[in-house]
Amino acid sequence: MHASLIEIEKGFAEDLEQVRTKTDLEAFEETYFGRKNGRLGGLMKELASLSGEEKKEMGQKINTLKVDLLSRLEIKKQTLLGALLEAELARETIDVTEPRLPPVPAGRLHPLTTLQTDVEDFFSRLGFRILSGPELESDYYNFTSVNVPPNHPARDMQDTFYIDGHPDWVMRTHTSSVQVRAMRQYGAPLQMISVGRVFRNEATDVRHEHTFYQLEGLMVGKDISFANLKAILLALAKHLYGEKTDVRLRPKFYPFVEPGVNGEVTCYLCKGKGCRLCKNTGWLEIFGAGMVHPNVLKEGGVDASTHTGFAFGFGFNRVAMLRYGIEDVRLFQSGDLRFLTQF
Ligand code: FA5
Repeated sequence: MHASLIEIEKGFAEDLEQVRTKTDLEAFEETYFGRKNGRLGGLMKELASLSGEEKKEMGQKINTLKVDLLSRLEIKKQTLLGALLEAELARETIDVTEPRLPPVPAGRLHPLTTLQTDVEDFFSRLGFRILSGPELESDYYNFTSVNVPPNHPARDMQDTFYIDGHPDWVMRTHTSSVQVRAMRQYGAPLQMISVGRVFRNEATDVRHEHTFYQLEGLMVGKDISFANLKAILLALAKHLYGEKTDVRLRPKFYPFVEPGVNGEVTCYLCKGKGCRLCKNTGWLEIFGAGMVHPNVLKEGGVDASTHTGFAFGFGFNRVAMLRYGIEDVRLFQSGDLRFLTQF
């Protein structure tokens, strides 16, 4: 075995001299230190045939040799890889005369996205869940579940787009479609908001779009009152438009609330004095709200004899129009950079 040790050391030195590339290096490592057939491993296996003292002595010698060979291999590795890297760098060239690529213009957030983040933050701090729902919705969740059964006249107020071959599907007309979904999923007590895109088949003008955004809010529990609704609405209006903003609620029919209200906030332009924008009323209409109808609570699986709730639905584009002084709702989806780069 002594002879083998000397032979391995000699072969190692000679073979190491021949290593020129990474592939050589890998093959070399395999030959001497490979797990299966490495030459040093082979020596270790031979130890098994020796006895007692001899085994111990040879074992130590093999280990010393191994440590020595490994350190020589490491030095070779460092010098070889260093040399290869230098050669590679020397081959690389940079053409400093090549023209520069035109700068990429910085992107920015859409005003509705900025507002959505702000409003979601506001409600998160009040302990509301932030939920979402599908834009392609079942007729049931969009209408029937919120107390607007087939053939109900209120369906006329929210005509929408239908999908060929799927009479039970609609592009949702309002985010109230999330109400029953949320109650079924989370039960009561529940407080949630949901911002999302809605669709209506209607002629467009400065205040009306066929595709726009709404902010839905729903709070269900024991002893939830109209006063709670008003407090939340007022806090939101002040958060959005400043401390001096007030909220006005006037009766309005919505099948999914009882009583229902039409909500207005102080006109941002004239601060309530009356101007062209608010048609001299001092108020701007931006939401619908009310106490959740017992039929809707029942559809959501909530016991209407012990629980009450309130809901509200803001036209989110209009919230943004008031906040940023935008005069035409159609600008949001125009893709016009002259509009978008102002935010
Ligand atoms: C609704 O959609 C109800 N789901 C709101 C609601 C929720 C009431 C919960 C009670 C409880 P309405 O159709 O009025 O209601 O629409 C709500 C708001 O969406 C309006 O106040 C208005 O700001 C906005 N809106 C309605 N139609 C359009 C449109 N075509 N373009 C832009 N905004 C619109």
